Amino acid sequence: MTIFAPGRANSIGEHTDYNDGLALPMAIQLGVSVRHSPRSDDRVLLESEGHDAGFLDEVTEHSPNHLRLAASVARRFDVRGVTWTVSSTLPEGSGLSSSAAYLGALILASGHRGDFHDVARTMQELEGECGSHVGLLDQLAVLGTREGHAMRIDFSTMTTTDIALPASWAWTAVHSGEHRTLAETRYAERRAQCDFIANRLGPWRSLNKDDLVVLDDRQLQARARHVICETSRVDQMIDAMANSEIDRAGQLLNESHASLRDDFEVSTPGIDELAAQLQATSGVYGARLVGGGFGGCLIVLHRDDIDLTATYRNAWRLRPGAGALR
Ligand code: GLA
Repeated sequence: MTIFAPGRANSIGEHTDYNDGLALPMAIQLGVSVRHSPRSDDRVLLESEGHDAGFLDEVTEHSPNHLRLAASVARRFDVRGVTWTVSSTLPEGSGLSSSAAYLGALILASGHRGDFHDVARTMQELEGECGSHVGLLDQLAVLGTREGHAMRIDFSTMTTTDIALPASWAWTAVHSGEHRTLAETRYAERRAQCDFIANRLGPWRSLNKDDLVVLDDRQLQARARHVICETSRVDQMIDAMANSEIDRAGQLLNESHASLRDDFEVSTPGIDELAAQLQATSGVYGARLVGGGFGGCLIVLHRDDIDLTATYRNAWRLRPGAGALR
């Protein structure tokens, strides 16, 4: 038996998930597959292309992350007597959610099923046990997205809505060639700043830009401005999709990038240069950093008849697929 879980490309709504905001991810055709082969003993062996193999009962807190995550799945769901063989078409650490796809595929390979909201929370808990405290964007997207749709997620109510993607809009992920450095530490710093702001000013969704003057720290003001404006861009994007306004959608991507660069400061000079180059390319409507930042990919919205994979070496034309539980 082989299980597949897709990665995701977030069209817009970045660093909003842990701030009760909105996001609009789509599942993509790239993802992680896990082959589940029964063994004659009781042990669980994990083999993974390009990574160390290991028996999961030997995993310790010093083991590599992919083995710790797999061991936490095996423990949680009492998995025995199996070899899991993992292969992936998703570039790792690139902002396309390779870790949620990996974890999602393992959980489904362990036989666990359920409502995708509940399974997403279980994934978040398991990642937390392994030291990575992320929001719920990736898990919900890789599990619950409907084919050909993006998923509007409202993190303040945990409600999800399917949003039809205009069929003629073309999306490509272009890798910056930069690997994420210190991403986890910096992500944790951003989260701590956002928690501080919410504690001081009240629930995010009740705030608007004018409320920020009471924050005397300009950096905190900028962080909050990103969260508030990025959340408002999500419904603007949905409106642009509903009205086939691709120019406006591209503009929203560019504004999102500028906000991630200047206000949330999760970009890098190399990524900014690539974003500017892409944004100036004929046939491109907009481009922005995708995912947590500090390296990885940009997501680009462009005319259907241009092929960015011919120009950029590490680029993938994205086909919006279905989440692993849809
Ligand atoms: C990473 C995290 C998500 C989300 C994004 C930023 O992908 O795993 O929870 O916070 O960064 O939007």
